[in-house]
Amino acid sequence: MIIAQLSDFHVRPHGQPAYGIVDTNAATRRAIDAVLALEPRPDCVLVTGDLCDCGLPEEYEIVRAELARLPMPVYAVPGNHDRREVFAAMLGQVGLGQAGSSLTKSGFLHYVIEDYPVRLIGLDTVIAGEDGGEICWEREAWLAERLAEGRGRPTLIFMHHPPFAVGVDGMDIMPCRVSPDFVALIGGHPEIERVLCGHYHRPIQRRFAGTIGFVAPGTAHQVALDLRPGTENRFVMEPPALAIHVWKPETGLVSHIQPIGDFGPRRPFVLDPAYPGKQQAVAAHV
Ligand SMILES: [Fe+2]
Repeated sequence: MIIAQLSDFHVRPHGQPAYGIVDTNAATRRAIDAVLALEPRPDCVLVTGDLCDCGLPEEYEIVRAELARLPMPVYAVPGNHDRREVFAAMLGQVGLGQAGSSLTKSGFLHYVIEDYPVRLIGLDTVIAGEDGGEICWEREAWLAERLAEGRGRPTLIFMHHPPFAVGVDGMDIMPCRVSPDFVALIGGHPEIERVLCGHYHRPIQRRFAGTIGFVAPGTAHQVALDLRPGTENRFVMEPPALAIHVWKPETGLVSHIQPIGDFGPRRPFVLDPAYPGKQQAVAAHV
């Protein structure tokens, strides 16, 4: 099973670059092109939030048109730049696969996809109007039920806000708030291969609750790495990228980061005769 993960499109209305600078719409188009160019093609695509920059209907129209270019199912969860109800109403089966446009009874955009060797659980972490997110007790209870139903089948959780600190102050001020019970819940299910996230616009991995916490890079702008205490986030036009997660029974899930762009042709490794593998003797310098 091959899963492509795209994150943080930040699509804007036509002709309005994000932050006055970033052509996020063109970047989204290139990200979709990059998925279409993959061989073999992924079985499905996950989008971990911030599909739009402001959650406007005209932004979702553009997102919908881009996602509709993908022949495989797409499963998306909202981020802090999305508006949950507009997201659900306008993306429907284009962005939520057969999960459709239904919100849970509690009004959250969660769902489980059972069609693959790896179960996919999308979690809605959004607190409307706030930068950070949370897994409140209702969302935690929903997740606990879904995990119990899986009976130990390999599982991926995908959500926008990372539920763990990453040691960067500019990012850690807007995390996904979770309770110790949530951490224990994840830790009690070793079948969870990864917790896939977005939000921080750069590749980050860490151990979390007995599994791997994984933050995907953005498909447009990245957040600059700044490890100095107390500094605010800045964005930088480092190469955009997508993540590719490959699952096989014998390896479990293996995750790759693939930059998006034209980096020239693939070239063979033509080894110099001095390469140690050529087994030529080299005179020792005394
Ligand atoms: Fe974002």
